[in-house]
Amino acid sequence: MHVTDGPQPMWSPTSWRTRPIRQTPIYEDSEALAAVETRLQSYPPLVFGGEARRLKQRLAAASRGEAFVLQGGPCAESFREFTGDIVRDTFRVLLQMAAVLTFSAKVPVVKIGRMAGQYAKPRSSAVEVRDGVELPCYRGDIINGFDFTPESRKADPARMETGYFQAAGVLNLLRAFSRGGYANLHEVHRWNLDYVRRSPQGERYEELASQIEDTLAFMKACGLEDNAPQYEEVEFFTSHEALLLPYEEALTRVDETTGRYYDLSAHFVWIGDRTRQPDEAHVEFLRGVDNPIGIKVGPTTQIDDLKKLLEILNPEDEAGRITLISRMGHDKVRDLLPPLLEAVQKTGRTVTWVCDAMHGNTTTSSNKYKTRAFDHVLGEILGFLDVFEAAGAVPGGIHLEMTGHNVTECTGGPQCLTDADLPKCYETLCDPRLNAEQALEIAFQLSDRLKRIFNRR
Ligand code: PEP
Ligand code: CO
Repeated sequence: MHVTDGPQPMWSPTSWRTRPIRQTPIYEDSEALAAVETRLQSYPPLVFGGEARRLKQRLAAASRGEAFVLQGGPCAESFREFTGDIVRDTFRVLLQMAAVLTFSAKVPVVKIGRMAGQYAKPRSSAVEVRDGVELPCYRGDIINGFDFTPESRKADPARMETGYFQAAGVLNLLRAFSRGGYANLHEVHRWNLDYVRRSPQGERYEELASQIEDTLAFMKACGLEDNAPQYEEVEFFTSHEALLLPYEEALTRVDETTGRYYDLSAHFVWIGDRTRQPDEAHVEFLRGVDNPIGIKVGPTTQIDDLKKLLEILNPEDEAGRITLISRMGHDKVRDLLPPLLEAVQKTGRTVTWVCDAMHGNTTTSSNKYKTRAFDHVLGEILGFLDVFEAAGAVPGGIHLEMTGHNVTECTGGPQCLTDADLPKCYETLCDPRLNAEQALEIAFQLSDRLKRIFNRR
């Protein structure tokens, strides 16, 4: 029987274990694995079900064109880069981009970090060969180590516990920044990073920040109080790919308010492009948790599979439950997205469409670095917006791999980085990220377009 034929079998947090699974490590020490799982099950959840429900409402608003999603952060968070500076700088750039996007679209920007748990990576090959030596591939810090040695590449369950505690540390800081005054709109100038401040993007941002400041002063002069929580705090949500299911299962709990299960490792979790088979383990797991969830939609996504996924994962067609994250590539999005969009429209189901402008645009540079061209990233977003405008549909947001650090991982952009610049500061453990200037420039480049789309509605 196919899973979508007739009623769904019973779900439990462990029911994924009976399904075929991809992209998962083999742990040699099953006792150590079980011990870690048991401990994780007893630890406090990282987020609260009520927060996930609030995000669902925000995503539902984005599906109606009443909000715009900005999801961003590194491809893979690293245990080694567990510092306050890295979290702060990425958070700052996201706030800056959100300010730019809000100012143009004039709708709330839903801010979601690929942070505080983005540690597990799907890989195109299970092994890596260097100079004739073959070892298991690196699968993200929550699974094994990046160093190319047999010990480091062994899947180690203890890493799950480290991942949990590091996610807790990052989340704690994000909560402090969001609520503790740092994100106060009156501090809008402070979000500009020192190295960005002197660039044209930094200067353009300063102008916008001054406009925001003037607007706040004007409103205050008109008698509007300027100390409402909306000025002083931001809502910031966390997300990661729900790839390592023993970890996700251990953090899945029954919510006291609703009696439903939530994966409380993050507010939003997504299924990757390599693990979205309707009959397999990752889809089975996410079927039963009540979080808002994402599904990557890539060039190989079949219309029938997408429709099946929507039925399995959102049988009641709840708004905000499903975000479809399109990642086609700048040169394919105009051809491949319209039929999928049309098929979903025809089902009458509610989804929020977001453009991941990174994963369809990865190339290898002349000097053998994994890279992405700024123009391709921007080009995919513009293509995505074209497709939605042509279909009279609502574009829900963007999804980027980015960092607040001045890395040289993607070419082009405001600094006109070339292949030769890539070795200067290439730090990613996995995919190339936009640096702060490149990320901010994306937001500026979208300004006029979003103004047109959203202010006409
Ligand atoms: C990712 O978002 O990190 C990722 C691996 O994407 P995809 O599954 O779309 O390739
Ligand atoms: Co990636």
